[in-house]
Amino acid sequence: MAQSPLPRWFTKPLLGAVAAVLLLLGGALPAAAEFALPPLPYAAEALEPVIDATTMTIHHDRHHGAYVANLNAQIAANPKLATLSLEALQGQIAGFPVAVRNNGGGHWNHSQFWAAMAPVGQGGAPSAELLAAIEANFGSLEAMQKQFNQAAAGRFGSGWAWLIEKPNGSLAITSTANQDNPLMNLPEIERGTPLLGLDVWEHAYYLKYQNRRPDYIAAWWELVNWDEVNRRFAA
Ligand SMILES: [Fe+2]
Repeated sequence: MAQSPLPRWFTKPLLGAVAAVLLLLGGALPAAAEFALPPLPYAAEALEPVIDATTMTIHHDRHHGAYVANLNAQIAANPKLATLSLEALQGQIAGFPVAVRNNGGGHWNHSQFWAAMAPVGQGGAPSAELLAAIEANFGSLEAMQKQFNQAAAGRFGSGWAWLIEKPNGSLAITSTANQDNPLMNLPEIERGTPLLGLDVWEHAYYLKYQNRRPDYIAAWWELVNWDEVNRRFAA
């Protein structure tokens, strides 16, 4: 048997130390494929008086944060998750357990929600192209908003209202339950590309509006970031 050039009392502890350092490094560094909570694109109080700072902080840090943490907790049991972008996951959601559907949907939905709002007076206006499409599909911007408000107010329990662009290029209003969204490949979903989505879970409005969901919906239009909606429509 070939003799190691180094004595056993030296090599064994050395290998052990190298392994310990690698384990420490591995444990300290987050896996590259983990999903991350995006920061709010404005201060928590920036959307007042329509949405109060406390609601924004709890909604983003705790609710959205929990969706991200719970989604990451699913990676070990569903390793395919680590190979998908958040958006690609939505289109393949039927192949995953309900915990991935709820938390993966929650992460995507809230990420688009923060981006689609801006402080009052800073959200711009619909582009000429988007306005033309809205008028062609709904008759007017006001008619689209009325239909959207009805979908948002009429969603029983928790969920979302959406303005979507359907695969045939037309625009439509739809609503989804819980944390589902129009990108999901599920039979009960009216599918399309979301241009605008409104969270009508009670956690989004209850501190300020209590049971007055229609008041929250009506006020929320003041926050719509049309520049972002225009960008989604153009893309
Ligand atoms: Fe929410």
